[in-house]
Amino acid sequence: METSEKKVSLTGIKPTGNLHIGNYFGAIKPALELTKTYEARYFIADYHALNTVKDAAALSANIREVSAGWLATGLDPEKVVFYRQSSVPETFELATLLMGFTSKGLMNRAHAYKAAVQANLEKGNDPDAGVNMGLFTYPILMAADILLFDSDVVPVGEDQTQHVEMAQDIAEAFNFNYARKGGAHTEEDRLGLKIPTALVRENAAVVPGLDGRKMSKSYNNAIPLFCEEKQLRKFIMRIVTNSQGVEEPKDPNGSQIFLLYKLFASAEEQAALAARYREGGMGWGQAKEELFRVMNRELTPLRERFNAIMANPAQLDATLAQGAEKARSIAAKTMKRLRNIIGIQ
Ligand code: TRP
Repeated sequence: METSEKKVSLTGIKPTGNLHIGNYFGAIKPALELTKTYEARYFIADYHALNTVKDAAALSANIREVSAGWLATGLDPEKVVFYRQSSVPETFELATLLMGFTSKGLMNRAHAYKAAVQANLEKGNDPDAGVNMGLFTYPILMAADILLFDSDVVPVGEDQTQHVEMAQDIAEAFNFNYARKGGAHTEEDRLGLKIPTALVRENAAVVPGLDGRKMSKSYNNAIPLFCEEKQLRKFIMRIVTNSQGVEEPKDPNGSQIFLLYKLFASAEEQAALAARYREGGMGWGQAKEELFRVMNRELTPLRERFNAIMANPAQLDATLAQGAEKARSIAAKTMKRLRNIIGIQ
């Protein structure tokens, strides 16, 4: 397929902490899979993270670690335009432009803002206590990220679909306004903004955390993707199990050890361990050892690549700078087109 015929897949990664196994199977792997069939533009949403991460050293460490993490897990910066949001100032110009087409009522309905207000009301606080404008206008900046690159699809988790729908609404308000006023030359000029679609990862693996709930940083039940071998072993030993004794037969599918095992082991290994569960005679400690063995085997190459990237900051900077340059050349064209449509040349 010609590059120019490929549709654009774009997603943003908020650098708010270390990547974990759940991020890998739930977000990174499916997004990397899409790079085979789409023109992919993946970026680090660092200004989105600023709403919550106000410690400069922590923010810059997160940006580096998350960038290195995507590269270590297989993102090819020659094929994917990979950049930091903050390196593309056109994003912020577009966000300002879009504000003129975004009703305040739309922002009032955003889940994240509503949840913050609700939490305040429950505590008897002022409804907007602790709510910064970054949180309130979050969907506008995200719409700018998406619309700047004429994105066709936006791979996201379920929790982000409302934001993508808001990007659609904002783009439609813009297109409607200028289509009515006319005066444009080409179809693209007339329409202005491409309407994106959310691609929800429905069949992405749900990864159980240490306590059996979905793995999530906010539940404090996550296994980091790149931790050292010793630490990995410690995390695995912390997995919560029931009180079944060694001799009792066990149900593999009711055990988060086995569910994690399935993500890393071959089909034969899975069948063999499932049989040992069902036969009885295997305690939870042994099952954990088996999990550690395959997890460590599969994660070691990723960890080594990650450590190598982190050990060479100049190379990482150069990779991100290259991505920024490619992103800016696309962004500059979009802004030129849009400025022309709005009458600000
Ligand atoms: N809001 C997304 C999240 O919290 C991150 C993000 C920012 C994003 N801009 C984006 C995702 C644009 C998709 C497209 O995960």
